Amino acid sequence: QHCFSKSDDGFLYCEGLKVQDVMDSVERRPFYLYSKPQITRNFEAYNEALEGLRSIIGYAIKANNNYKILEHLRKLGCGAVLVSGNELRLALRAGFDPTRCIFNGNGKLLEDLVLAAQEGVFVNVDSEFDLDNIVSAARIAGKKVNVLLRINPDVDPQVHPYVATGNKNSKFGIRNEKLQWFLDAVKEHPNELKLVGAHCHLGSTITKVDIFRDAAVLMVNYIDEIRTQGFEINYLNIGGGLGIDYYHAGAVLPTPRDLIDTVRELVLSRDLNLIIEPGRSLIANTCCLVNRVTGVKTNGTKNFVVIDGSMAELIRPSLYGAYQHIELVSPTPPDAEISTFDVVGPVCESADFLGKDRELPTPPQGAGLVVHDAGAYCMSMASTYNLKMRPPEYWVEEDGSVAKIRHGETFEDHMRYFEGL
Ligand code: LLP
Repeated sequence: QHCFSKSDDGFLYCEGLKVQDVMDSVERRPFYLYSKPQITRNFEAYNEALEGLRSIIGYAIKANNNYKILEHLRKLGCGAVLVSGNELRLALRAGFDPTRCIFNGNGKLLEDLVLAAQEGVFVNVDSEFDLDNIVSAARIAGKKVNVLLRINPDVDPQVHPYVATGNKNSKFGIRNEKLQWFLDAVKEHPNELKLVGAHCHLGSTITKVDIFRDAAVLMVNYIDEIRTQGFEINYLNIGGGLGIDYYHAGAVLPTPRDLIDTVRELVLSRDLNLIIEPGRSLIANTCCLVNRVTGVKTNGTKNFVVIDGSMAELIRPSLYGAYQHIELVSPTPPDAEISTFDVVGPVCESADFLGKDRELPTPPQGAGLVVHDAGAYCMSMASTYNLKMRPPEYWVEEDGSVAKIRHGETFEDHMRYFEGL
């Protein structure tokens, strides 16, 4: 069951609501529209897949940091994965249990590590200097820190290079040749550090579960080796990275259950707690960016649909050449001519496109056009380039009502940064 679908009448619906009607009722476009029940369903898919294992679902807040969404996930029982001091503060503010939070990153700052130590969140060790900083933070906070070693297993995730992280020359994590150095360093700091686990994250948009299995095999071997040295290490964190069906072309992709099932026996055989860090697969398909068509034009051999949304609201196509499915919210008239269009925004960059070479009926001015799967890494990567303001966000609730879950940024908000200078 998916929240956004075209009905027999040809209109796009979100949980039974006509997107066209939502568009007509809100004061500003473009806007993000989420389905709250879909967020619940996605979480439950992980939760059910994890049955029979001791586990933490650490939602990767970087994917989408809307406070209302965080609160909702937290109430469902979710933990959180944080990559900055502010994400840590936000998670705490949203009420996440610190002992279900993991602080990750290759450049964690000392002051943020102190907060993590005070609050008792898990911290991933990323490098030699990072270990030094965690030791200092533990001393300042007067608390022992539960740490995981982020090991770089060098498994190729077969994804865009910008979202591959677990390879040999990556800036993240530690290489296995250095494992002994880190184990010795932890032993030297029994009052500051408690080694509780091993972590890896291979990359993002992964669509083959064998890749997770290969990494998990390597990781449990490391865990065996670490245990022989007397460490009581009980957590395996296999990161996030499960891809989703961006193409809407009928492909069958691995589900959370496929992912968990591929590592289940390994986890049980070593009596481990499993931590997973999904971002995209929890939130991407719960949302569309809803835009309005400003006009249609042709230059040379290219047809363009110009919309009010742009790379400022949604940068993934421009940045990674990512495909996100695009469709009109209203029915295609039976006699409509279908042409090939680039769907572009108004931003002064030729990289400002949401989709290339899309087959669409020529849309009238004002028509609604959605970019699908916009829940992850879209709003959280939005900018104010060209002084476009970050858009408002809405969700459809269980009872079919629409609620605003973030105000759109305004020109006055922008001017406020200069007040009192
Ligand atoms: N854990 C760690 C350590 C990560 O670095 C990431 C994502 C995740 C978990 C969550 O991965 P997910 O399940 O969402 O794939 N901006 C890019 C994606 C960057 C991912 C960065 N790390 C995009 O728009 O595709």
